[in-house]
Amino acid sequence: MKKVRVFAPASIANMGCGFDVIGLALDEVGDILEITASEGDGLTITNETDVPLPTDIEKNVITPVVRKFLQIVDKKAQIDVTICQKIYPGSGIGSSAASSAAAAYGMNELFGCPLTDEQVVLCAMEGENLASGGYHADNAAPAVMGGIVLIRGYEPLDIIQMPVPGNFYCAVTHPHIVVNTKEARDILPKEVPLHDAVSQWGNVGGLVAGLYSGNIGLVGRAMKDVIAEPYRKHFIPGFDNLRSKLLSAGALAMNISGSGPSVFALTDRHDVAQRAGWIMREHFDKLEVQCEVYVVKVSNKGTKLCGVSI
Ligand code: HSE
Repeated sequence: MKKVRVFAPASIANMGCGFDVIGLALDEVGDILEITASEGDGLTITNETDVPLPTDIEKNVITPVVRKFLQIVDKKAQIDVTICQKIYPGSGIGSSAASSAAAAYGMNELFGCPLTDEQVVLCAMEGENLASGGYHADNAAPAVMGGIVLIRGYEPLDIIQMPVPGNFYCAVTHPHIVVNTKEARDILPKEVPLHDAVSQWGNVGGLVAGLYSGNIGLVGRAMKDVIAEPYRKHFIPGFDNLRSKLLSAGALAMNISGSGPSVFALTDRHDVAQRAGWIMREHFDKLEVQCEVYVVKVSNKGTKLCGVSI
């Protein structure tokens, strides 16, 4: 019998313009799983947190991840997972990706690391598919690998870790509004006008160029989304007003985090990040919407072991 304890970070998908192709990992906030492998053939999942999760393992994102891993390595085992710490589901900061990344990474460690990072992400994407009805990796890849990542392509998966210039902080707020990721994906148009596509790929290029050259102003300028945001921002009370307050306070950009309802402001200054956090809290307090606010650094660390026993 072997047991691992794994931490996987929260993440922010899209970074504005990079719908399904760009995401970043956050420091400190995340999920912790303990996974035990022993002889046999089965899976149990125990939730030791106060966060309500489905008790049916077929509805837990960890299940398809564990199954995919065992299928790739062609092994059978009794796997027992305990969820020790959990980001609230539906918060828009990669809750399902954190559990999926921790499960995929932990399984790989338990079996002697037969999979590459890309394959670990591929396993984690099974959890994302169960949660959202889509195989996107822009939460799972940064959660596994850390930093800011670009999914250059999905067939085959081609993940590029991009530089994180200097100190990057995110103020993130999770207003207590339920936005289901699947629903937030279903409302998006299946076709995009050429004019919008031109604007979006210009911004994706600008964001990548800004990260590689350390041009913070360019990063902020490029974090604009004309594809998903116009449809999704209506879920978030006072979205445009909040953005103008945050930009006036010095944030480089403010966008929806993944499919929402969380929003985040990016900055290279800790004091601006803290001010952005206060503005977010004040904004939702005034609207009588409860919210959590996190001020966290963009992290170069992805999923990591925090304990092993044999
Ligand atoms: N890229 C995905 C979306 C992320 O925007 O739907 C979901 O968290």
